[in-house]
Amino acid sequence: MPFRIIRNDITKVEADAVVNAANCSLLGGGGVDGAIHRAAGPELLEECRTLGGCETGQAKITKGYNMPCRYIIHTVGPVWQGGGSGEKELLYSCYEKSLQLAKEYGCESVAFPLISSGVYGYPKDKALQVAVSAITDFMAENDMDITMVVFDKNAVSVSEKLLENVRKYIDDNYVEEHSDNAVRSTFVAAFSKSYEKMPEDVCCAPASFSFDKLDESFSQALLRLIDEKGMTDVQVYKKANIDRRLFSKIRSDVNYKPKKQTAVAFAIALELDIPETQDLLEKAGYTLSNSIKFDVIIKYFIENRNYNIYEINETLFSFDQSLIGV
Ligand code: AR6
Repeated sequence: MPFRIIRNDITKVEADAVVNAANCSLLGGGGVDGAIHRAAGPELLEECRTLGGCETGQAKITKGYNMPCRYIIHTVGPVWQGGGSGEKELLYSCYEKSLQLAKEYGCESVAFPLISSGVYGYPKDKALQVAVSAITDFMAENDMDITMVVFDKNAVSVSEKLLENVRKYIDDNYVEEHSDNAVRSTFVAAFSKSYEKMPEDVCCAPASFSFDKLDESFSQALLRLIDEKGMTDVQVYKKANIDRRLFSKIRSDVNYKPKKQTAVAFAIALELDIPETQDLLEKAGYTLSNSIKFDVIIKYFIENRNYNIYEINETLFSFDQSLIGV
């Protein structure tokens, strides 16, 4: 199941459970806690009063009341004291305990804020690293649709060095000013090529056109590549950050046309090189071009053989691009 990072107000996010960054009293406060109590209404505080507080690193659950979720999971993050007081383990435990509760209550989707990274002072990039590691550990064994909701895009944990390299690569490769022309000429070239190949009778009598000679479809190519790479379906859709149901749809519908972000995610999961990626994307009618920032970023990662989808998504997020998989 997918894991995504979005920038939003967590009180507006729909999920079976929304996690609250609370304090030990569970009686409300500022930040996310204040926003959630305001959105849920006064009945939330009434239920919280019955819970007897919560220890740091632990989690408790209540109903969602007026929030767009069935449950609110209240967890208490550690206060940052420089990193030497077990903050990392306690923060990891917040995610772990919250996810266990969500699972126990039959939730299929959970939204988290970046716990401890506000009033409690945990550096945002470090806090996100812990969140991603706890969530990926959980997802290795469980199916859950998990969303990290961050207010601030600077929270992403990719290193400045990586972002700098990507920025430089974009500068060197991105053909922004000429993008319209580039797209147009690619289109014209592709069009005239196929036009040249068209026999006259096809132009004049489309009813007799035969599809017998169509190339293999995206779905067929994907299944072939999974076999060739010696991977299992589960390994591939998990690594691609793709929902199991979406994968089954692609598997069972030979003519399925995925979104470009989905097709790219499979290329990353299969660790394809650039020509192989272009080949797979073509089956779904796409390409990677130097006129589109998203494409250039993807090319950077493939050329550097970095197939870590979370790092790729955090980088895409930093550059305001849509994420892959999900
Ligand atoms: N939606 C998403 N993220 C938000 C929102 C929102 N509506 N509001 C703030 N953030 P914090 P903590 C981000 O302070 O550090 C409370 O008083 C914010 O930018 O809410 O765990 C409690 O009662 C930051 O990155 O939680 C506790 O006393 C992150 O959410 C204490 O604060 C967490 O910030 C807990 O502190």
